[in-house]
Amino acid sequence: MPSNAVPTNDVPTNDVPTNAVPTNAVPAVPTPIDRPLRWAIAATGSIAAKFAAGFVEVDDAELYAVASRTHERAAEFAAEWNIGRAHTYESLAEDSEVDVVYVATPQHRHRDDAVRYLDAGFHVLCEKPFAMNRAEVDAMVAAARRNNRFLMEAMWSRFLPGWIAAKERIDAGAIGDVVTVEASFGISVPDDPTHRLRDPAQGGGALLDIGIYPVTFSVFLLGMPTRIVASGRRAGGVNVHNSTYLEFSSGATALLWSSIESGLSIQARVVGTTGVIDVPMPFHAPARFAIVGNDGEKETVETPMTGTGLNYQAQHATDRIRAGELESPVMPLAESERIIDILDEIASQFS
Ligand SMILES: NC(=O)c1ccc[n+]([C@@H]2O[C@H](COP(=O)([O-])OP(=O)(O)OC[C@H]3O[C@@H](n4cnc5c(N)ncnc54)[C@H](OP(=O)(O)O)[C@@H]3O)[C@@H](O)[C@H]2O)c1
Repeated sequence: MPSNAVPTNDVPTNDVPTNAVPTNAVPAVPTPIDRPLRWAIAATGSIAAKFAAGFVEVDDAELYAVASRTHERAAEFAAEWNIGRAHTYESLAEDSEVDVVYVATPQHRHRDDAVRYLDAGFHVLCEKPFAMNRAEVDAMVAAARRNNRFLMEAMWSRFLPGWIAAKERIDAGAIGDVVTVEASFGISVPDDPTHRLRDPAQGGGALLDIGIYPVTFSVFLLGMPTRIVASGRRAGGVNVHNSTYLEFSSGATALLWSSIESGLSIQARVVGTTGVIDVPMPFHAPARFAIVGNDGEKETVETPMTGTGLNYQAQHATDRIRAGELESPVMPLAESERIIDILDEIASQFS
């Protein structure tokens, strides 16, 4: 149990009337933490390393522990990133000094890992996709609520200067009314069944891993779609290509693509009545974007990032947890539920 949690056995049972809900049944809402937050990373793969590299930019927090399937691998990662404690995934749950766990395992494990650490009394930041489907997300949200702990999907793009500035400019009318969003994200992944993105056992496929970005971008700008039409292809037990058309209540539409079998552009274009916004590669973490009016006038907006970019979401989660909050106002659990509902619907149309 983290040091900010109230012990569950602090009320003698003979003080509780038999017909009352015991006051110790629900863990207390955490009090704000007034010291640097102690983070643990669960996993030692590529995104875990990028998170560790960016962590130097996070204030009021320290990288305190790392967990792996083997203690040896955790110790190796800990030495590389100057992290004090090395754990297995199981022993991390017993470490009462940790406040928050960043779950960076493959998505087939997200539900079980997040629930394990929430039930252990930790706060959790969990990589995208939040889980494999809506039922798994529901289990994670229920675990956060029954434990009164902070939970957030690590959709890092939502916290980056590029996405925030683009939305601010769109909301201020820089391109008039949004008519269409076009966004695609493709990478050519070798046809190797052991590769994470080609492996059904690791939750592989294009849609959940990278198709989530075009979907999230359009929902970020336009809200929940009122109509979803999707087509795609599966191969080797995973979804390898998706083409999706969305309609929104404003009348706007979105055309979105994702693929792990072709190098589609990783760019986005927001088309409005008076101009367009072009978000260059990589549109999910853009260093700049251009606003081009229908009259041809062009403005380039520079949006450089600090660190690796993953530090923005870590700073946000640190600040919210230190303030005693249980959800992010930027990436609330309802937004994660909306995104997984859309991904479920897209997958269901060609599974
Ligand atoms: N936000 C982003 O920009 C971004 C970018 C890439 C990936 N991601 C997300 O982050 C998650 C991890 O992706 P990644 O690229 O870091 O993957 P990765 O390089 O394959 O690393 C995954 C790590 O998870 C651990 N793991 C635990 N159980 C595993 C299992 N059964 N099979 C394989 N690995 C297992 C492994 O560490 P141990 O051996 O130490 O247990 C492994 O190193 C995915 O959900 C992915 O969608 C996010």
